[in-house]
Order: sequence, then C-alpha cells, then structure tokens
Amino acid sequence: MSLSIAIGSGKGGTGKTFLTANLGVALASFGRNVILLDADLELPSLELHFGLEGMKVTLSDVLAGRAEIDKAIYNAPGGVRVVPAGISLYKLRKVDLASLGDIFEELRSKAEMLLIDVPPGIGGDVVATLAASRQLILVVIPSFPAMPASFKTIQVAKNLGTEVLGVVINRATMDEYDLTIREVEDILEQKVIGVIPEDPLVKRSVASGTPHLLEAPDSPASLAIKKLAADLIGVEYEIPQSRVKRFIDRMMRR
Ligand SMILES: Nc1ncnc2c1ncn2[C@@H]1O[C@H](COP(=O)(O)OP(=O)(O)OP(=O)(O)O)[C@@H](O)[C@H]1O
Ligand SMILES: [Mg+2]
Repeated sequence: MSLSIAIGSGKGGTGKTFLTANLGVALASFGRNVILLDADLELPSLELHFGLEGMKVTLSDVLAGRAEIDKAIYNAPGGVRVVPAGISLYKLRKVDLASLGDIFEELRSKAEMLLIDVPPGIGGDVVATLAASRQLILVVIPSFPAMPASFKTIQVAKNLGTEVLGVVINRATMDEYDLTIREVEDILEQKVIGVIPEDPLVKRSVASGTPHLLEAPDSPASLAIKKLAADLIGVEYEIPQSRVKRFIDRMMRR
C-alpha cells in the first residue's frame, strides 16, 4: 500500500496540523514507514509539533529549485520523518507549485504513507496540494458553520480526481450544540471515519513541541487517533474500556 493522503478542511483551525502530526506518529507506532509534509507554505506549523523549527533546507527551497527533496527530510520524534515548509517570506516568493506532484510522488516512493498538512481555505495553494495528493481526509469541527467550506473542499477534491477517504470530527465535546455523526454524514455525503474528543492536554503537548501521542499517549485524543490509524491500515485495535470509548460510542449512537 502506498498512499499520499492530504489532511484538509476548508475552514481554518479545525486541527489539520494536529492530526497530521499525531496520525503520523500513530501510524509509525503500528510499524508504518511514514513521511509528513507541511504544505502550508504561508503559515507553516507542522514542525512545531516536533520541535523541528528553524531547519535549514525546507520544502520552500525544493519548490524554488534550490535543493533536492532528500535534503529537506528530517527524522522526528515518534519514528516519523518530516518535511517542513519553511517560514522565509523571501523564499516563499520564489516557489513554483507546479512541481508539487512530482515531489509527492518522490516522497511516496520513499515511504509507505505520505501525510500532507494542507493549508486552510480553497486558494491556488490548496488546489495544487489536493491535485498532487492521491487521497483526502477531511477534518471538521462538529459545528454547522464549518460545513459549507468542508463540502466545497470535498467537491474540489472529487473534481481533481482525489479520492475522499472520509471525514474526521475533531474537538468533539458531545454537548447539545455539536452536530452528531449522522448529521455530519448527511450534510457532507461522506462517511465519518474517526471522532477525536476535545482534549485539554493538547495545549500542553503543543507548547512542549512534542507530539501529543508521545506526550500524553493515554489521553482521549491520543486513543481516538490511534483507533483512526488502525482502521486506516486495517490493523486490529480497540480503544481500552474507558471514558474515551464510552464517549465515542455515545457519539455514534446520537
Ligand atoms: N482534539 C483537540 N483538543 C483540543 N485542542 C485541539 C484539538 N485539536 C486541535 N486542537 C487545537 O486547536 C488549534 C488548531 O489546531 P491546528 O493548528 O492543528 O488546526 P489547523 O486546521 O491546522 O489550523 P490552520 O487552518 O490555521 O492550519 C491548536 O491550538 C490545537 O492545539
Ligand atoms: Mg494547520
């Protein structure tokens, strides 16, 4: 199996970067060889989840034709490799997104799975990223205003021939204002493949520059992400009988 999965959303701030980082670590914990790539060239943040900020060679350099992709791949905590986007505005002016597809294909040949952290919105950079990816997982928060942008992103991906693997609901609280799984599925006409609870410990992990899955492996969000990873690759994994399992079971039944 060789996948290049874009983790997208449409609306900003739904947890794309958080999920890319931690789904990658979860997949690596199941023995998968994973590369994570930050395609958010304007406001990159994937590297912050791994304490990898300030790397010399980044995706911006590769897209500007100044470096080979091999030089922009870094070993990261959790057994994954990461391609940071780079933060230099000067370099950003020089990038040419036309080679994104070739870069993704090259990375795909170096790993079993490539996960791509997609920028928010539906601008040219997002379209180029979706076009260069083979699959899409859409991350939504369970609130109605997030739905139109998500729907649009799904349509764009489909038009580009990118396979939509499904929707992940992040930051679920199960309060009365959250959309239910069924409502999200009805609105987006896609299957919900994972539910990640709102987890107060995420803040601490992000501040520490360590992936949440390593910093708080038994926390609600970590267990839910492990389950999503297992389901994606067809590995047997049950969330331990716990509050998290009851939470997700309840969310399923609503
Ligand atoms: N399950 C969760 N529980 C608590 N906080 C979370 C959870 N998921 C994400 N967050 C927090 O939500 C914020 C947004 O997450 P993140 O940066 O991953 O979103 P994003 O979709 O990548 O945003 P952008 O569109 O700006 O790239 C971050 O502060 C992150 O720590
Ligand atoms: Mg992001």
